[in-house]
This record gives sequence, C-alpha cells and structure tokens, in this order.
Amino acid sequence: MNDIMKIQFPAKSSCESFARVAVSAFIARYDPTLAEINEIKTAVSEGVTNSIIHGYENENGVIYIECEVRDRQVKIIIADKGKGIEDIERAMTPLFTTNPDGERSGMGFTVMGTFMDKVEVKSLPGVGTRIIMTKTLETAGEEAECG
Ligand SMILES: Nc1ncnc2c1ncn2[C@@H]1O[C@H](COP(=O)(O)OP(=O)(O)O)[C@@H](O)[C@H]1O
Ligand SMILES: [Mg+2]
Repeated sequence: MNDIMKIQFPAKSSCESFARVAVSAFIARYDPTLAEINEIKTAVSEGVTNSIIHGYENENGVIYIECEVRDRQVKIIIADKGKGIEDIERAMTPLFTTNPDGERSGMGFTVMGTFMDKVEVKSLPGVGTRIIMTKTLETAGEEAECG
C-alpha cells in the first residue's frame, strides 16, 4: 500500500496536536512500532513549532504538511510561507537558536535528525521554509523478531 496525504492548517499552537495526530493516524495503518510513531510525532511537533514560532513569529499564517508512504518509507514535508532561514547550516547546528527570550533549546533540528533517517531543509528568506524528513519503517517481521 502506497499513499499520500496533504493537509493545511493555521499556524497556531492549538493546531500543533492536530498535526501530530493527523500524521500518526495516517501512518498507523502501516503498523509502525510504538517507538516509530512516537519518534515521528516528536519530529512533526518540532517542525510545526518552528513554523509557528520562527517562520510566522506567532503571527497568522498557514502550515502545509505532506505525508507519503512508499515501500514503508515515510516522507513528511512541513512547509511554511514565513520569514525563511538565512543560513541553513548554522540553523541546524545543535544549540543554535535565534529565539531571543531564551525559551528555546536550539535542539529542534537535532531532535528531528535523531528520530528520522534524514532531514533536509530548503529555505529562502522572505519566501518560506520546507523541511523534508524521511524514515523507513521496520517490517512486521523485523518487529516480531525484536520482541
Ligand atoms: N520554519 C522556520 N522558519 C524560520 N526559521 C526557522 C524555521 N525553523 C527553524 N528556524 C531557525 O532555525 C533555528 C534552530 O531551530 P531549532 O533547532 O528548532 O531550535 P529552536 O527552535 O529551539 O530555536 C531557529 O532558532 C530559527 O532561527
Ligand atoms: Mg525548534
């Protein structure tokens, strides 16, 4: 079974749990492990929070998510039309944050990279940001073997 889902929703923190649940419900049909579902949910949360806080700076905006599963490879795209990132490499450095109030840890991209197989960031200042994350789900057989 190969499948694709596209959703868009307002960039509000109250919509963050919706995004997480929508993606996990979509992927649940592929029998992921509980760990895989939790890892994907956490990565989605980090990406959506970034779009809300950094991309749109807590102003109105729309977040776009695409989720595709092909041969058990999950591809999730989280996109915004917010302020964009000037230096992507620097932004992805562990502990780097532009959030001035010190509430952010600067570990969002690191968390996404830890929980997903690959994280790619495309961004243009003034245009927006697109994060493409992929992760291959274990097959049911492997899952059973690992107990
Ligand atoms: N969607 C986005 N739009 C604009 N800037 C972003 C976006 N996502 C991340 N960034 C930039 O990358 C930095 C690092 O992000 P992250 O690793 O999640 O750490 P944190 O969110 O704690 O600052 C942010 O501080 C911000 O400057
Ligand atoms: Mg973050």
